[in-house]
Amino acid sequence: MQTQTSTYSNFNIKSIRNDFPILSREVNGKPLIYFDNAATSQTPQVVIDAIVDYYQHYNANIHRGVHTLSQEATEAYEASRRKIQHHFNAKHPHEIIFTSGTTHGINMIASSFTSLINKGEVILVSAVEHHSNIVPWQMLCERTGAILEVIPMNTDGELILSEFEELLKKQPKLVAVTHISNALGSIIPIKYIIAKSHEVGAAVLIDGAQACPHLKPDVQDLDADFYVCGAHKICGPTGIGMLYGKEEWLNKLPPYQGGGEMIAEVTFEKTTYAGLPHKFEAGTPNISGGIAFGMALDYMNSIGFENIAKYEQELLVYATKKLLSIDGLKIYGTAKNKTSVISFNVGDIHPYDIGTILDKLGIAVRTGHHCTQPIMDFYNIPGTVRASFSFYNTKEEIDVFVEALKRAVAMLS
Ligand code: ALA
Repeated sequence: MQTQTSTYSNFNIKSIRNDFPILSREVNGKPLIYFDNAATSQTPQVVIDAIVDYYQHYNANIHRGVHTLSQEATEAYEASRRKIQHHFNAKHPHEIIFTSGTTHGINMIASSFTSLINKGEVILVSAVEHHSNIVPWQMLCERTGAILEVIPMNTDGELILSEFEELLKKQPKLVAVTHISNALGSIIPIKYIIAKSHEVGAAVLIDGAQACPHLKPDVQDLDADFYVCGAHKICGPTGIGMLYGKEEWLNKLPPYQGGGEMIAEVTFEKTTYAGLPHKFEAGTPNISGGIAFGMALDYMNSIGFENIAKYEQELLVYATKKLLSIDGLKIYGTAKNKTSVISFNVGDIHPYDIGTILDKLGIAVRTGHHCTQPIMDFYNIPGTVRASFSFYNTKEEIDVFVEALKRAVAMLS
């Protein structure tokens, strides 16, 4: 089995780019410029190797075999859980539940809360949420008769905290907010939101999908009750993520789904559940994904989140200035605290048309509503073009992108 640590230590953009095989491919005869990092990040070779290594050398089911392969796989999977625990500074490894991704984590909590929410009680979300942090709560409201309330935002894409404080007077049972907006890049003051919500006895779930690529959350310092993210935006594979839950909450909540692995004892009369974390992990999990998730965190930590944040801010400032020099270009999401995500439109050109021409020039951006239709409704637009930068992008790529965008605008105007 290969050693599950990486050897990267310095922030050196050239060597970082060499870690990602996909960055040297061409698209439509042009070098790929990948600016769709908020949708999914690219995967470094060490993470790809971790997956291949598992299937080549110790592919076996976990937690259920006495044989060597099963024990090796179990050991690697649980080692990865401990890496995730340390990365997020959870108190216990069993507070980390493997999920298939952010959406799965939110749905688990929304489903498990069914027995704890009563008719007329309030669940609070915010105006900048991704659909995955809206719809599961709406479904919970449908099941229970609870009421969904929304913390409003201003035109910069920041939450209006005075309105949030007003809403707290309704004594919400649960507050679910994103750490960083996927569509606008706004960084939400979650530590403040968590503290205020706790004053009225609400549990708080943080959607960390867009935050984890840019910073290292400390769940104990934040005092989050639940924190969810997926690995695929943090250089890991798709189909794996994690739900952090405080031990007392995870003990209190009923399991989300039944099956193998999550039981203590089964008879036809009665089943008792396993302890944490297995109570929430029914069935054979994504074993290679779980192991690769740990490797992805090793990789990113070896580069360093402070380095990553500093470099991405440079890219954000550089790109924002260049983009604003284009006539008619309007940026949506101008929060004082934001990450390297730029959503924009140019005049009344449809975002899809711009995205299609950019693709012909080898540039990947996302176009559309970004699974945040309420944000698009707020601005009264059908969608935006979104360029989202990662630590492996460069200013030279931004130069090429801006020139390509000018060409696209000239063709479409
Ligand atoms: N939520 C992902 C995005 O913002 C898919 O693109």
